[in-house]
Amino acid sequence: MRKHVPQAFLLVFLLCSAAVAQSVTGRWVAKFSSDDEAREIVVALNASGGTLTGYILAPQFEDRIVAGKVDGANVAFTAERDANNNQVQRRDYTAVLEGGKLKLTAPAQGNRPGQVYELTRASSDPPAPLPPKPPKISLPEPAAVRSNGLAKTPPMGWNSWNKFRGKVNDQVVREIADAMVKSGMKAAGYLYVNIDDTWEGTRDARGNITTNSKFPNMKALSDYVHSKGLKLGIYSSPGPKTCAGYEGSFQHEDQDAKTWAAWGIDYLKYDWCSAARVYDTQQSTMIAAYAKMGEALLKSGRPIVYSLCQYGMLDVGEWGAKVDGNLWRTTGDISDRWQSMNNIGFDRQPGREKYAGPGHWNDPDMLEIGNGGMTDTEYRTHMSLWCLLAAPLLSGNDIRDMQPSVLEILTNRDVIAVDQDKLGKQGVRVAKDGDLEVWAKPLADGGYAAGLFNRGAADAKVTAKWSDIGVTGSHKVRDLWKHEELGSIADEYSANVPSHGVVMIRIAK
Ligand code: GLA
Repeated sequence: MRKHVPQAFLLVFLLCSAAVAQSVTGRWVAKFSSDDEAREIVVALNASGGTLTGYILAPQFEDRIVAGKVDGANVAFTAERDANNNQVQRRDYTAVLEGGKLKLTAPAQGNRPGQVYELTRASSDPPAPLPPKPPKISLPEPAAVRSNGLAKTPPMGWNSWNKFRGKVNDQVVREIADAMVKSGMKAAGYLYVNIDDTWEGTRDARGNITTNSKFPNMKALSDYVHSKGLKLGIYSSPGPKTCAGYEGSFQHEDQDAKTWAAWGIDYLKYDWCSAARVYDTQQSTMIAAYAKMGEALLKSGRPIVYSLCQYGMLDVGEWGAKVDGNLWRTTGDISDRWQSMNNIGFDRQPGREKYAGPGHWNDPDMLEIGNGGMTDTEYRTHMSLWCLLAAPLLSGNDIRDMQPSVLEILTNRDVIAVDQDKLGKQGVRVAKDGDLEVWAKPLADGGYAAGLFNRGAADAKVTAKWSDIGVTGSHKVRDLWKHEELGSIADEYSANVPSHGVVMIRIAK
């Protein structure tokens, strides 16, 4: 009998360790890097009696599990996150324990498909619960910031995000600057070369922001870009982290503005993102957070164009200019698909025209022209509409390697002149008949630009009536894509417009 005790003990021990090995309880880690920065996602789970508690930590978010269940090696749970749109977002995850690894499936978000992370076990101990969230910071509405006097016409340039995401680096930016000059983009008016998210390193002992290894020397890079007669832009967040999980400017606003000025930066895109984790959701607080950087940029002593990126929340048009914003995003992110551009451009801009004018512009997001997800006809619609909207023109493609048709669309001077018109009025929709729309924009010389758009699936005849635009009698008309004078035309102009296409004209005074 006594002889069996150690064996029973061993059996219990083996069963227990098997149970531990099969239990999802513990701390799981996945390391990822697109840029040699050590970044990780940590999943902490505690399975007990069929229920699950825990959290997910990534640089840019914290998801707390609010409900979860365990069924053998499978778990499903719902977690809450302070989303960057100032709301609490609920997200449904599933995970399965397979071969000692935890495969976590994160839900799809917007255009982004669901992602699977393979995590390695770092510990089998039940994780301690996260401390309660600290109270959010509330700020009163500040006084208006003195105007920086920049961006009298909508800024033009290039931005890395749409095409390069985390793969932007010093070499790419130099080559883009070269291409900007060589391709004729610079001559057409494109000036800013803007580095979006993922350039950031950590902070040094004094709290100064550094670059990561993709950008070994930002001052040398800006010298290079400036030597081409171009300007350099950068990106940060009012929150502790950027959208891609890099260091943000929270509580380092003045210091960062000074650093950028010393580097020779000429443009800042300031992206809300993780700010929702530290600030409350009041309009006054958001205004104050953006004003803080507006002031900091002014104090830096360098003229820096200030681009607000907070997806159009909390009536940004009403206060964007007061915090010294030269442009502000009006929606969530654009993607290189007709549906996305069509919705953002046509449906989400009307009503905002009252906020646009020299020095401060509505930003329907960067251009997708040339990225391959739309036809040239659709890209011409994209370009025409953005120009009628007096939108910033930031190309988002790889301009080192462009199809001739893409270059032609991006550098159409007749169309760009509409965007850059000194009057600075945002165009509006003046007529709509189902999928057929006419948009018009008044110009400084007393004339008008008009777009005859066909958003439908079949080619169609579209008519622009002078009375809808506010014009009477006969006027000289120029076709801005054919670069042709059409002669003097009375009352209206009709054209056959391909599906998803445009005919854009200029109506002389
Ligand atoms: C947000 C912005 C994008 C881009 C990314 C970078 O999604 O809206 O334009 O800057 O962040 O992480």
